Amino acid sequence: MQDFLSKIDKERLPSHVAVIMDGNGRWAKEKNKPRVFGHKNGVTSVREISEASAELGIQYLTLYAFSTENWNRPAAEVTALMTLLVETVRRELKTLNKNNIRLNAIGDIDNLPKATKRALLAGIEETRGNNRMTLTLALNYSARWEILNATQKIATKVENGQLASQDINESIFASHLETHSMPDPALLIRTSGEMRISNYLLWQLAYTELYFSPVYWPDFRKNHLYEAIVNFQTRERRFGKTSEQLSSPA
Ligand code: FPP
Repeated sequence: MQDFLSKIDKERLPSHVAVIMDGNGRWAKEKNKPRVFGHKNGVTSVREISEASAELGIQYLTLYAFSTENWNRPAAEVTALMTLLVETVRRELKTLNKNNIRLNAIGDIDNLPKATKRALLAGIEETRGNNRMTLTLALNYSARWEILNATQKIATKVENGQLASQDINESIFASHLETHSMPDPALLIRTSGEMRISNYLLWQLAYTELYFSPVYWPDFRKNHLYEAIVNFQTRERRFGKTSEQLSSPA
């Protein structure tokens, strides 16, 4: 495989990379192993990609770790995933602090199992002073839940007279989303060859560049991330404008 790191223009990095980590189950199945084996090996990729992102200077990395729909999986797999999360967050805390990485979570955290919620909140608290990169785990997350939740918060403010309905605009709406403190992702990566958004960051992905990798998540390594970024840097982000307008902004 080519060395993609040397091809990256460090001046034009995506400030926020969002990832749909897919293919753990298929990776395990191809090895005649249980699905959980895939998730366990997926943690190695989480570590690699977090480290590579921080080293490059990416400011926000957001990983889809568990969707609202994932509760429909076999109970044993759900339990194993929750346990893996608790173990990983606890085990990686020292490394996160050493690398000045702040842990964050988006999603319906209150309705996670108690132990998962506790470990997560402790991790967030213990890394809150770090500012090199924010690593966000989307957990018990679905974009439609997030959008409905924001709508309810805004409706309550309108009912209470704190906000006039005609004043609701994009920036006010976005400030009620789980991602209120982050820029929208510049790049979305989905692994394993699937080409769907799967209820992930629907509002925030409006102008995001999409990159689909055929590699299963447990095999996804630093150089695969570099490859995605090199590909991202070949794209022209027009935000609805023409090429000519971009080259000579008036
Ligand atoms: C998708 O593969 C993966 C998940 C639903 C879970 C991702 C979780 C991890 C990588 C481990 C824990 C993460 C952290 C942040 C500590 P899939 O099971 O849908 O694979 P398939 O499509 O091949 O079945």
